[in-house]
Amino acid sequence: MQPNAVMLAVLLFGNLMLHYVSAQNAGFVKSPMSETKLTLDTFELYCDVIGNPTPEIQWWYAEINRADSFKQLWDGARKRRVSINTAYGNNGVSVLGITRLTLEDSGTYECRASNNPRRNDLRQNPAITWIRAQATISVLQKPKINASDQIILPSETKGPPVTLQCNLTNAHEGQQESFWMKNGVEIADSRNEQKNTEYIIKKPRSDDAGEYMCVYTFETAPNANATIEVKGKTPTTRSHSRNKQMAAILLIFIINLHFNQYCHPLPYLRER
Ligand SMILES: *[C@@H]1O[C@H](CO)[C@@H](O)[C@H](O)[C@H]1NC(C)=O
Ligand SMILES: *[C@@H]1O[C@H](CO)[C@@H](O)[C@H](O)[C@H]1NC(C)=O
Ligand SMILES: *[C@@H]1O[C@H](CO)[C@@H](O)[C@H](O)[C@H]1NC(C)=O
Repeated sequence: MQPNAVMLAVLLFGNLMLHYVSAQNAGFVKSPMSETKLTLDTFELYCDVIGNPTPEIQWWYAEINRADSFKQLWDGARKRRVSINTAYGNNGVSVLGITRLTLEDSGTYECRASNNPRRNDLRQNPAITWIRAQATISVLQKPKINASDQIILPSETKGPPVTLQCNLTNAHEGQQESFWMKNGVEIADSRNEQKNTEYIIKKPRSDDAGEYMCVYTFETAPNANATIEVKGKTPTTRSHSRNKQMAAILLIFIINLHFNQYCHPLPYLRER
């Protein structure tokens, strides 16, 4: 046989096999992954399970990873911070989401799946009828950053330098370094290792306006950041008053429209 013909035969045979397989135990295609998060942030865990018939998926949680301390999680639990979205098609796919994290959300999260027809039979040992995949979520206190308030650039071209400041005031261990970003792009040569960091705009010009961000990195925790808005003065105020003018013109126009629509011409005007 030609190699291509062999390939074709293998493919056809494979397809036939798929069609005639009557039952297949549940198996994970994708299992949830452990993560470290900060308070008030959000996390999502994914679970994708294959099997025939399509397996049922459940989420369980335990503060301490002990078999007898797991409790099932429900959509809307923890004051509606927990969401569970599951779709059953060829695979069972489920996303567990928790918003506005607190330190108490730390623990072990478990995706359980089963297509065993006797999976909910209380006489069965669930450790045999369900397969399980675990992820550990660690929630750390979000560091506090004391940052400069919004800054409005001086209107004259040769204004004094502008200093942006960020002070890391309350942070877990392992701070590595900090850097600055402008409009989402890292500013070159802005990295340092201090808890207090400054970025100086030496000769402020109108195109220095934008959204600045100081970012702190940590060894074992997610980045922390704070945003400082830097606004150009002259163009903002001008467009402001122009907006007000436009709003007034629009208002007069609308009043006129309504008047014409609802108030018919007075009779003596019609008689003329
Ligand atoms: C943050 O900065 C302000 C003034 O810039 C200061 O009064 C306040 O104490 C600082 N907060 C902390 C936690 O250091
Ligand atoms: C940051 O800390 C420095 C030194 O302690 C202080 O002078 C400055 O005002 C602080 N800045 C902010 C925004 O808190
Ligand atoms: C800034 O912090 C937010 C909230 O923690 C996070 O979602 C975002 O990815 C951070 N951005 C950067 C550039 O670190």
